Amino acid sequence: MARIIGGIGTTHVPSIGKAIADKKHDDPYWKPFFSGFDYVHGWLARERPDAMVIFYNDHGLNFFLDKLPTFAVGAAPEYRNEDEGWGIPVSRAVAGDPDFSWHLIDTLVADEFDITMCQEMLVDHAVTIPMALMWPGERWPVKIVPIEINTVQHPLPSLGRCLALGRSVGRAIESYARDLKVLVVGTGGLSHQLDGERAGFINKEFDQLCMDRLVAEPEALTRYAIREFIELAGAQGVEFLNWMAMRGALTGSVAQLHRNYHIPISNTAAATVVLENRPRAELRAA
Ligand code: DHB
Ligand code: FE
Repeated sequence: MARIIGGIGTTHVPSIGKAIADKKHDDPYWKPFFSGFDYVHGWLARERPDAMVIFYNDHGLNFFLDKLPTFAVGAAPEYRNEDEGWGIPVSRAVAGDPDFSWHLIDTLVADEFDITMCQEMLVDHAVTIPMALMWPGERWPVKIVPIEINTVQHPLPSLGRCLALGRSVGRAIESYARDLKVLVVGTGGLSHQLDGERAGFINKEFDQLCMDRLVAEPEALTRYAIREFIELAGAQGVEFLNWMAMRGALTGSVAQLHRNYHIPISNTAAATVVLENRPRAELRAA
């Protein structure tokens, strides 16, 4: 059966792609951010996941404001990137796993999540930047199932709904018959606002609260309505919905293994978190 090894939450700021292309890892501006991935590289090398479910928001590459699903699940053999602007090079494609995708889709719909299923889907910086950060080498060792959450056009799903979506995905992963080691990722955030009067807004205190609660009591975060969350985290800080879904998918006992938080990367409070998922059966046996 498939097993969930843990979760990673990471920022997906596009200019990271340009910094990678320009090899700016040791530049004083970038070092405090990139060095936060040293732990991630060691952990991934030890855990060796085969598959990755990645919750992210599309920023207009595949979906636009005319048709924007609240939740969409990819079921393609491959996910391509295209030129998004931002000065970042076009990423290589990411391999998909259609059989695993269809299992998740079947289980989610049976669980009354009315998702959009996508047999073709472009993925933007919210998928490709985290891939490049987690596996900086030539080869990406996982096949992915991308799950898009609308964080762009209102009305957005609530924090509670995204936590519930993640929980359903977690149950679906664990009912998959293949022996896969599965990593769950949530991208975006933390606090940031890219436009309007509050452009550049960052809220360190609230970011810390969100990361703390996410580990041990994610339900506590569901008390924030979307409007209130945006007031506290900025208009794009609401990308944290992807982190909520990631946390929901961790079905076991969860512990934080690593956290890096650095302000700012571009306009964003950049955060990287690694969460371990210890299956409950393993805990009982111990
Ligand atoms: C930035 C952050 C994002 O999450 C994004 O999607 C685009 C830009 C930024 O801080 O520049
Ligand atoms: Fe974003």
